[in-house]
Amino acid sequence: MSPRRPAFERRAFGAKQILPQSRITSVEVEMIPEEQNKALEAWQASARYWDKYRVVIAQMFAPLTSGLVEEARIGPGQEVLDIGGGSGEPSLTISGIVGPTGSVMYTDPVAGMVESAQAEAGRRGLTNIHFRQCSADDLPFVDRTFDVAVSRLSAMFFADPVTGVREALRVIRDDGSVSFVVWGAKEVNPFFSTITDVIDRFVEVPQQDPDAPDPFRFAVPGKLAGILENAGAKIVIERRLNFQIKAAISFEQFWQLRTEMSDSLRTKMAGLAPAQILTIKQAVADAARRYFVGGTMSFPAEALIVSGGKSARR
Ligand SMILES: C[S@@+](CC[C@H](N)C(=O)[O-])C[C@H]1O[C@@H](n2cnc3c(N)ncnc32)[C@H](O)[C@@H]1O
Repeated sequence: MSPRRPAFERRAFGAKQILPQSRITSVEVEMIPEEQNKALEAWQASARYWDKYRVVIAQMFAPLTSGLVEEARIGPGQEVLDIGGGSGEPSLTISGIVGPTGSVMYTDPVAGMVESAQAEAGRRGLTNIHFRQCSADDLPFVDRTFDVAVSRLSAMFFADPVTGVREALRVIRDDGSVSFVVWGAKEVNPFFSTITDVIDRFVEVPQQDPDAPDPFRFAVPGKLAGILENAGAKIVIERRLNFQIKAAISFEQFWQLRTEMSDSLRTKMAGLAPAQILTIKQAVADAARRYFVGGTMSFPAEALIVSGGKSARR
């Protein structure tokens, strides 16, 4: 178990909530292949920035990894599947937790992400992580291969979430579990909204399908839990996780990181004149001032951890 136990834990992890059937709704639709290719191309374009900012990303989202590890009860000797591992988290952290008697199978459909994560594992000399380039909805593993499947901030981008969860359930053992961490509502995640609220006043934002891939696709409580239920998961549990997105960076560094890492921000900024960008940046700096104190960035944040078992024996 990681020695870093987040201070938010007691406050954040309230009573277990087993969702009643009545809240289970899913109108999820599968993305058409052309849309899926475009989405993966966007992630490929983002991969170099996720690599560039890997140290800060690891710090900012460490509480999510801790929450996931705790929820999935990951320990030494386990065989863990990571779905949508991006530049390497939570695989790299879990590699240390499962130790030499365990293993991690990192997966991501985007070549640039796989290369970035694999290179980092090599630099760290980790030998218990294996890498496969694949999508959540078509996992190239035989049934019952892993003890646990986890996914940090990726489920909201699955082309077909029900199939993705069903695949995760298929490849875990009968007493195994799946755990997904996703963002809570945009309104309680100023790390995102301080920029998008301002920029969206300058850029026409087309009406978005709430079921389309997006960081906040599963922000509504019960939505991802409903997908787990539809995919056949048992004992579905949803927890709210309140934490601080913290790192020793300035506003200037935050602005650069956010506007480089996000494909949607890169696209929006590309359509703006330099003077408009300066105006937006100043407005964001004013709105974000209270989150930058004494050389440290600290945004309040909210995520949901949604878990389920393959059988009711979890
Ligand atoms: C926000 S990043 C999260 C990466 C990493 N898990 C982390 O927390 O730092 C989302 C990841 O989901 C991946 N992704 C996109 N579509 C996917 C799919 N259909 N199946 C699995 N992963 C997918 C992207 O390539 C990207 O690496």
